[in-house]
Amino acid sequence: MDVLVVGSGGREHALVEALAADPGVGVVHAAPGNPGMAARARLHDVDPMDGPAVAALATSLGVALAVIGPEAPLVAGVADAVRSAGVACFGPTAAAARLEGSKAFAKEVMTSAGVPTARARVCESDAEVALALDAFGPPYVVKDDGLAAGKGVVVTTDRQEALDHARACGRVVVEEYLDGPEVSLFGLCGWNDADGATVYPLQPAQDFKRIHDGDGGANTGGMGAYTPLTWAPPDLVDVVTRTVLQPTVDELARRGTPFTGLLYAGLALTSRGVRVVEFNARFGDPETQVLLPLLVSPLSPLLLGAATGTLADVPPPAWKPGGAVTVVMASKGYPETSSKGDVIAGLDATPDGVVVIHAGTALADGQVVTAGGRVLAVTAAGRDVADARARAYEGLSAISFAGAQWRTDIAAGR
Ligand code: AMP
Ligand code: GLY
Repeated sequence: MDVLVVGSGGREHALVEALAADPGVGVVHAAPGNPGMAARARLHDVDPMDGPAVAALATSLGVALAVIGPEAPLVAGVADAVRSAGVACFGPTAAAARLEGSKAFAKEVMTSAGVPTARARVCESDAEVALALDAFGPPYVVKDDGLAAGKGVVVTTDRQEALDHARACGRVVVEEYLDGPEVSLFGLCGWNDADGATVYPLQPAQDFKRIHDGDGGANTGGMGAYTPLTWAPPDLVDVVTRTVLQPTVDELARRGTPFTGLLYAGLALTSRGVRVVEFNARFGDPETQVLLPLLVSPLSPLLLGAATGTLADVPPPAWKPGGAVTVVMASKGYPETSSKGDVIAGLDATPDGVVVIHAGTALADGQVVTAGGRVLAVTAAGRDVADARARAYEGLSAISFAGAQWRTDIAAGR
């Protein structure tokens, strides 16, 4: 079958690589895609935010499945448009994608479903924010209610900074601070009328959110990731599936807005147990880059099964032993700004086994140049995380562009 992947970032490039390696997949199409995908996919210049245009493309290509990568089109209802055109689509409806599109909605669903998360208050005025900050105490956590491309959350001990961020956002969620390591756990979710919601958890991964080594500096979209988490409790996946993923999708189904696609649980492993930090309604970036190389199962039956309500008929995902690590190379100025047009050298000079995922690149005069904040995700699998880490950094050392920034401590000591 032919597949269309919608998006142009590192997550979508990783999906394209996995689909291209799937013997059940014929042609992989991407819209709009990026130069890294061009070797594996046919690229189409269609705006991912334009639902009717994406639906028309999927129909005219005759694909059996469309996969919507990023959150903004999902929240805008692009998956609904594709499904209305009669094409199977991996990605939630706009109604279900509100789990990511509104933090207040996500909190409300978690409360109804009894899912453990930080205590929180939705605030719309300075006075409400001040009261909430004082109720929870420092460190203060203030989140923009809506989508903010990784920039909506401020965690600070500076009360004034917390107040200023809240004022700049408008409607915010103020919540208690969660201490403890963060873990990303993804659930492939499908639904049908007879069986209700089916969830297949993937292997946990860990993302490094801050720009600088030692988890310093500003929050970013994610500067690197690794899997598996050999230090995590052995029952983590079972506990999270039972107490977080399944109750959440059951609650959405009960409300008449079932979730099909990928439910991303960002978790904190606190001394009092697992707590949800955030939900996303799509694959994580860069976690997808490390998970897919270790997936033994072909990807397309899982995505198609979720999209068509037949996930329970597909064997659950199986994983290779060993580890995988991805290290993000970001452009100058990221995350405050980003630099475009810097020529990237060494893309063909990485050792065998290193996959250079393109996240923010473009072609200019036949050369690959930077075109975004996160530019590349240099990825390698290995016999364990330490081996994968060594390979990923060896790959990274072959690549250069002006102003490149990366963390040197991704998966260190893991
Ligand atoms: P979010 O967009 O909700 O994932 O928040 C981005 C990052 O902010 C998370 O990955 C955490 O590192 C941090 N964060 C969010 N909520 C909390 C919280 N309640 N306590 C501590 N850190 C948090
Ligand atoms: N890696 C964080 C995210 O995808 O939101």
